[in-house]
Amino acid sequence: MKQITEGIYEVGALNPAMRVFDIVMETDYGTSYNSYLVKGREKTALIDVCHRSFFGPYLANIREVCDPKSIDYIVLNHNEPDHTGALAELLPELGEVTIYTSQAGSIYIKAITNRQDLNIHVVKDGETLDLGGKTLRFLSAPFLHWPDSIFTYLPEDKVVFTCDFLGAHYAEPYLFDYNVTYLEKYSKAFRGYYDAIFGPFKKYVRAGLEKLDQLDFDMVLPSHGPVLTTDTLLETAIARYRTWSASVQREKKLVPVFYTSAYGNTKQLAVEVMQGVRSRQDVEVRLCDIIDYPMAEMRALLNECDAFAIGTPTINRDAVPPVWELLAGMDAINSAKRPCVVFGSYGWSGEGCPNVAARLQSLKCSLLEEPLRVTFVPTQEDLEKARALGVRLGEAI
Ligand code: FEO
Repeated sequence: MKQITEGIYEVGALNPAMRVFDIVMETDYGTSYNSYLVKGREKTALIDVCHRSFFGPYLANIREVCDPKSIDYIVLNHNEPDHTGALAELLPELGEVTIYTSQAGSIYIKAITNRQDLNIHVVKDGETLDLGGKTLRFLSAPFLHWPDSIFTYLPEDKVVFTCDFLGAHYAEPYLFDYNVTYLEKYSKAFRGYYDAIFGPFKKYVRAGLEKLDQLDFDMVLPSHGPVLTTDTLLETAIARYRTWSASVQREKKLVPVFYTSAYGNTKQLAVEVMQGVRSRQDVEVRLCDIIDYPMAEMRALLNECDAFAIGTPTINRDAVPPVWELLAGMDAINSAKRPCVVFGSYGWSGEGCPNVAARLQSLKCSLLEEPLRVTFVPTQEDLEKARALGVRLGEAI
C-alpha cells in the first residue's frame, strides 16, 4: 500500500515478471495493476480492481487502509480483466457495494464475474458522486481503449484516474514518476504501450486529451505504471500522446505495392502494378519487397496508406510466410474499406492469391476484384493486365 495524498491510496499489485501482455504485446519491464482507494468523510470508493492472479496481496493491501466491508463503491473505469479479474473473489470480502461503470462496462462485468445480481449504477458523462469532501466526476472516454472506458476526476485533489490512458507496462517498486530509476526503459515502455493499446484509436486519443484539457489537475493516476505528476513526467506524457495521435496530413496519397518473389515473376507483376498506379500524378507509390525491410516498417506502411497491392507467390499451396506476417500486423479497426488488389505468379495450383484475398475480405478491406494470377513467367499480356490493375487501384482511391 502507498499513500498518494490525504485520503487517496494505491493498493494494487506489481507483476515484475510479466513478459507478454494480451498474448501479443511484449513487456520487457513487467507491469503494475494499480488500484486506488479514495476515502471521503462519509464514503469510501475503490477505483479499478486488479488481475485475479494477484488477489491475495491485493486484498492485504486494501486491509492496510481499511476494512474491506467499509468500501461503499467500486468504480470500474475499464473492465478488461487485468483490472476486474479479481472482483469476483473480492466481492465476498465486501459489504453492500454499488459498482459505478459505463453502460458497456455494466454488460462486460456481469460476464466477467458471471454474476447477474451485481448492484450496478451506470454512469452518465459528467455525473458526480460525493464521498464527503471528495467528489468523483465520471467522464465518458470511449475506445480508450474499449467501448466501456471512462475517466474519473477528483477536483478537490486535482487528480484524474485514467486507467490505461497514459499508463505503461512498467514495474518498479515506486509509485511516483519522480522516483522512476530507469527513465529510458520507462520511456520505451510508455511508447510501446501507446503503440499497442492506443495506436488504433488515435481519433479517440485526441478526444481524450481534449477532455483532460478541460480539467484542472496536477496528477494522473493510471492503472499501469507510475503516477504522473506536474513538473515531472505528466506534461511530457501528454505532449507525447498529442504528437503520436496527431492526424497525418500528406500532399499525396500513399500506395505501397508489397510483394515478395522467389524467381522474379511476382516481382515483374509488382513493377507493372506500381507503374499503373503511378499513372496518377497525385499518388506516391512505394514498391517494397517485404523481406528487404523491417517488418515493423512494412506494417506501419500498410496501416497508414490510402490503398495497397499485395503480390505473393504460392509455396506448398499457400501464400508465403512473410506475406502472412505482414497481414498479421494489419490494424483491422482502421483498415476497413481501404482499396486493395492481389496478384502473384505460381507454378502448380496457385492458392496463395485467393487465400490472401479471402483474408483481406475478412478484414473488411475493399478488394477491388479477383486476384491477378499468372502461371510461372508473365507474358506480355500478363504484364499489361498487371499495369491495368495498378491503374484501377489508383483510380479507386
Ligand atoms: Fe489494462 Fe485495457 O486493460
